[in-house]
Amino acid sequence: MELDRKTIRRLAGRAEEASRRCYAPYSRFAVGAAVLASSGRIYTGANIENASYPAGICAERSAVSRAVSCGERKILAVAISGGPAEGGRDFCPPCGICRQVIREFCDPSSAKIILTRRVPGKGRAELAVYTLEELLPQSFGPDSLVGI
Ligand code: THU
Repeated sequence: MELDRKTIRRLAGRAEEASRRCYAPYSRFAVGAAVLASSGRIYTGANIENASYPAGICAERSAVSRAVSCGERKILAVAISGGPAEGGRDFCPPCGICRQVIREFCDPSSAKIILTRRVPGKGRAELAVYTLEELLPQSFGPDSLVGI
């Protein structure tokens, strides 16, 4: 399924909105993610930090966890928005762990990772669209385990 521009924009908007619901008192870095699943539903998540720092979770994994817990098994796209909690959004590429977690539930050559940022003075958010494979080449996934 090819994503149309409207869906991409809608997903980016949902990611930005979700970033406002982050719990990031330690880094003050707000991240939001929006997962589009094969059902057509959108699941959002934000980063949730913890006083015990390593216990925190990224926005992307919190959104994927919501989607998978609701029965979804195929991710078509993930939009991500991040920046200082006080405002301003630059491109926020997903961390390595999140790339791997998304990989588990997608077709890497077609799943889209959409980064969105706000440029001061510009009305519309700027987007950068990649495939998961571009961000995580030669990946290890469920197919890698066949035969065990
Ligand atoms: N963070 C995310 O939520 N997603 C990423 O892909 C990169 C980093 C969060 C984790 C932490 O709460 C904050 O951003 C600063 O690293």
